[in-house]
Amino acid sequence: MALVPLYGVIGNPIGHSLSPVMHNAAFAATGQAAYFNAFQVEDLETAMAGVRALGIAGLSVTLPHKSKIMEYLDWVDDQALKISAVNTVVNRQGRLCGYNTDAPGALAALSGKIELSGRRVLIIGAGGAARALVYGVAEAGGRVAIVNRSAERGAALAQEFGVQYLASSEIENFQAEVLVNTTSVGMAPASELIPFPPTLIKPSMVVMDIVYNPLRTKLLEAAEKCGAVTIDGLEMFIAQGALQFEMWTGQKAPLKVMRQAVLNALGDDRC
Ligand code: ATR
Repeated sequence: MALVPLYGVIGNPIGHSLSPVMHNAAFAATGQAAYFNAFQVEDLETAMAGVRALGIAGLSVTLPHKSKIMEYLDWVDDQALKISAVNTVVNRQGRLCGYNTDAPGALAALSGKIELSGRRVLIIGAGGAARALVYGVAEAGGRVAIVNRSAERGAALAQEFGVQYLASSEIENFQAEVLVNTTSVGMAPASELIPFPPTLIKPSMVVMDIVYNPLRTKLLEAAEKCGAVTIDGLEMFIAQGALQFEMWTGQKAPLKVMRQAVLNALGDDRC
């Protein structure tokens, strides 16, 4: 099976994805004659038949296809199966293999600031991104609790992974050391929204937001104001992308180049 050095992100909508900018910068910086494209995909089954027929070398997968894509793969690794989501496909000589780099990407972002083992980690949200975070942090030895707008969904996720679900009145007692927002609350254009009461943020906390547009969300602004350590959404986005790049190419990802390319695209000139 002849593969072509073509990669892409599939999702719907896909117009605002920063994956092409990030991965094409990485390919260029490492001298690879490869190209990464964004594909808006409605009919996943037909799209995956196309990937096979054309010999596309790898995919990044985003909403709403992260779970459904597993039906069209030849093999899915254990972590991705437990999270029930694949965000990375590697075409190995015609065999489509699925992985999840969101969980290790989130851990890489967190571990730059804190050793998670034994820490009390409060996860906000119970959607797809929360699943990766809850799984990853629990595997790393963190003591996880979940809060969510819909109690039913939050409690179901907590039960599935054997962690705690907290009602709003129980948040303070939990004494979280790490707080992670996995919801889209605070994302542009509704960037004035905050997913957690600012009064419950403590200076001793590490606060991470997976939202990266804007980079400095209301949550991170409130955390900074009270002296907490913050981790912005770009950290996880770059980390999960770097792991994808390494799986596809077998080469070390040029992290700085990837970060700068995404910052440029976001219209931010920080280094
Ligand atoms: P994803 O797969 O990207 O995580 P999702 O499955 O739609 O997306 O999950 C979104 C998460 O953000 C959920 O936890 C959702 O809360 P509900 O389970 O109550 O729906 C949360 N969320 C989305 N919009 C929200 C809002 N305005 N306020 C609070 N939580 C919100």
